[in-house]
Amino acid sequence: MNVLGLQGSPRKGNTCFLLSEFMRAAEKLGAAVATVDVREKNILPCTECRVCETCGFCPIDDDMTAEVYTLLREADIVVMAAPVFFYSVPAQLKALIDRSQALWARRNRLGLEDAGSRWRKGFLLSLGATRGKKLFDGIRLTARYFFDAVGARSAGELVYRGIEHRGDMEKQEGAAADIEKAVQELMHPFRLRKKILFVSTDNASRSQMAAAFAQRLFGDRLDCLSAGIRPAAQVNPAMVSVMAEKGMDMAFRRTRSLDAVLQAGLPDAVVAMGPGETCTPVPGAVRENWNVPDFAGGSLDAMRRVRDHIEKLVIERIGHI
Ligand SMILES: Cc1cc2nc3c(=O)[nH]c(=O)nc-3n(C[C@H](O)[C@H](O)[C@H](O)COP(=O)(O)O)c2cc1C
Repeated sequence: MNVLGLQGSPRKGNTCFLLSEFMRAAEKLGAAVATVDVREKNILPCTECRVCETCGFCPIDDDMTAEVYTLLREADIVVMAAPVFFYSVPAQLKALIDRSQALWARRNRLGLEDAGSRWRKGFLLSLGATRGKKLFDGIRLTARYFFDAVGARSAGELVYRGIEHRGDMEKQEGAAADIEKAVQELMHPFRLRKKILFVSTDNASRSQMAAAFAQRLFGDRLDCLSAGIRPAAQVNPAMVSVMAEKGMDMAFRRTRSLDAVLQAGLPDAVVAMGPGETCTPVPGAVRENWNVPDFAGGSLDAMRRVRDHIEKLVIERIGHI
């Protein structure tokens, strides 16, 4: 399970502390955690060029393009953490939020579905110096529509008033207990999922498609991973385009090595995509070999046939795991 934290304050202060405690609690319960700290990233504001609305990609070349879109897509839980700045979020985080318009456009303009979007959750952490009733109204709305853009359902918040000076958050009574309770509730359904791993040679096409179909259909009860024995540098663009024909968005997927995936935790089931594409036996894991030949170098039509065959196998053979 992947938990992504977005640290939205321009200083190392209250928000940093609150988010790091939240992420620590998530890691303790078994999550793989990643944090994007806006202080350390080069994320430029949206220029409203509208390229994303026709092409689905943002043409700005910065850390958003290099890593944040992928992290957002890989996350099961997105935690947005921000101090209140003029009833909104700080400008650095706002740039990241505005740039998520590219993900919104992929779904709403190009009709592409990200397989994780059925199950992904969004959680808001916020704090501000004053105590007014409406202090978090603006941020709540921003968070709600940001979560919608990145394919996540708002699943709760922790917000704190009267937090102004560095160190105030550390002194906030009850915060540790709030965090523990919220993290447990948020992660509970994800922790019940079994882990299934699809293995191929290069993790560029077949294992990626299988994991995406499985995630879309069974992501509420299966954590669907894929890996390669000798992973390619990137996923196969032909695979991305035949999956797009079925309305499935594979654009921000990256390849993974089998060793790295196994190191992060052992799966309950391993599916080898083709002959000879297996891994060292995982103790206790269900093993299958689907004997799907590798058509990576073949025509688009061959790739389409492989895609449809894999979809059928996922529907017929994954349901029982
Ligand atoms: C530019 C700026 C605007 C702010 N606007 C608000 C505000 O509208 N309402 C509020 O209660 N606090 C406001 N604050 C105070 C911060 O929310 C508060 O100091 C918070 O603890 C900062 O969190 P941090 O340490 O994570 O940056 C503002 C602070 C700054 C620097």
